[in-house]
Amino acid sequence: MALTSLRQLLDHAAENGYGMPAFNITNLETLQGVMQAAEATRSPVILQASQSARKYCDDIFIKHLFFAAIERYPHIPICVHQDHGSSLAVCTAAMDLGFSSVMMDGSLGEDQKSPSTYEYNAQVTRATSDAAHARGVSVEGEIGVLGSLETGTGEKEDGHGIEGTVDKALLLTDPAVAARFVLDTNVHALAVAVGTSHGAYKFTRRPTGDILAMDVIEAIHRQLPNTHLVMHGASTIPEDLQQLINDNGGSIPTTFGVPLEEAQRGIRSGVRKINIDTDIRMAMTGSMRKYFKENPSSFDVRALNKPGIARVKALCAERFERFGSAGHADKIVPIPLADMARRYAPGGSLAAKS
Ligand code: G3H
Ligand code: 13P
Ligand code: ZN
Repeated sequence: MALTSLRQLLDHAAENGYGMPAFNITNLETLQGVMQAAEATRSPVILQASQSARKYCDDIFIKHLFFAAIERYPHIPICVHQDHGSSLAVCTAAMDLGFSSVMMDGSLGEDQKSPSTYEYNAQVTRATSDAAHARGVSVEGEIGVLGSLETGTGEKEDGHGIEGTVDKALLLTDPAVAARFVLDTNVHALAVAVGTSHGAYKFTRRPTGDILAMDVIEAIHRQLPNTHLVMHGASTIPEDLQQLINDNGGSIPTTFGVPLEEAQRGIRSGVRKINIDTDIRMAMTGSMRKYFKENPSSFDVRALNKPGIARVKALCAERFERFGSAGHADKIVPIPLADMARRYAPGGSLAAKS
């Protein structure tokens, strides 16, 4: 069984100096593109579902999609992760489905629209860690709020995130607060705010240090050298996909994402999980637009989806190669979640020190 905890994958990545892309899955086609890339590059893989993806697919369907990937690719270690869980209940439901990892995003309130307090975030994240570790499930927390350092506003593009102006202090994670948070919550991975945001409209120019604060990641890593850091909003928003969409009837104003070189710089400073959703959406929808434009009389949904799967495969394979996870699948023997739970228990090899 190739189901693997996030903790095991990120520990292996840290020990071997690479980063893991984490891909958001929406349907069978996006899953096929990601898994074909993992197979081609022999990379372990993190598959993640947002709450809206769970709702769109239906929990039972998404569970079986993920477990179909595990059955189809038994030699590829696969972590199945809840992205941006808004409450302990959401995370518990994901664990009940069999997910091996959950993100408790307590940086926002349960509505995922307003910033929360430190106390709320620490309390709900700690409760999630306690429940998850007993089941061998890993936990990602978030401290700081995603949003633009260019405009000083939050991001609400994907239906969650803060609308309007945000206190700039929240848009950049404070390394000392991050250190306190990890101690208070016992998380395995920590998402930090450094100027990235979800969706296509991250930066109006190729980002420099004033709008993508990689130095903050470096400072957090100095405070927390053993914590696996997570970069959200890490799509590159490739120029060729913007063009593919615009050449085929779409209308995407010129925009810039997180260059692969910046993610690679992050990997050198403790970033182990790099979240990618928008690039996959653009590859799928750009391919569909092109197909429809070239085949106006077609109603063949298989022919419609095939070019998108191929583009997702190529895009994900490039991420596996550039982040360094390619070639590592065969070196990891998945540890069953029950064994992970024993390791987290008092006296176990991964028990919390606090
Ligand atoms: O967390 C952000 C991802 O891009 C998920 O977006 O909630 O629309 O699936 P979504
Ligand atoms: P992008 O919108 O940049 O792909 O980010 C995805 C993400 O962070 C999911 O949690
Ligand atoms: Zn995210």
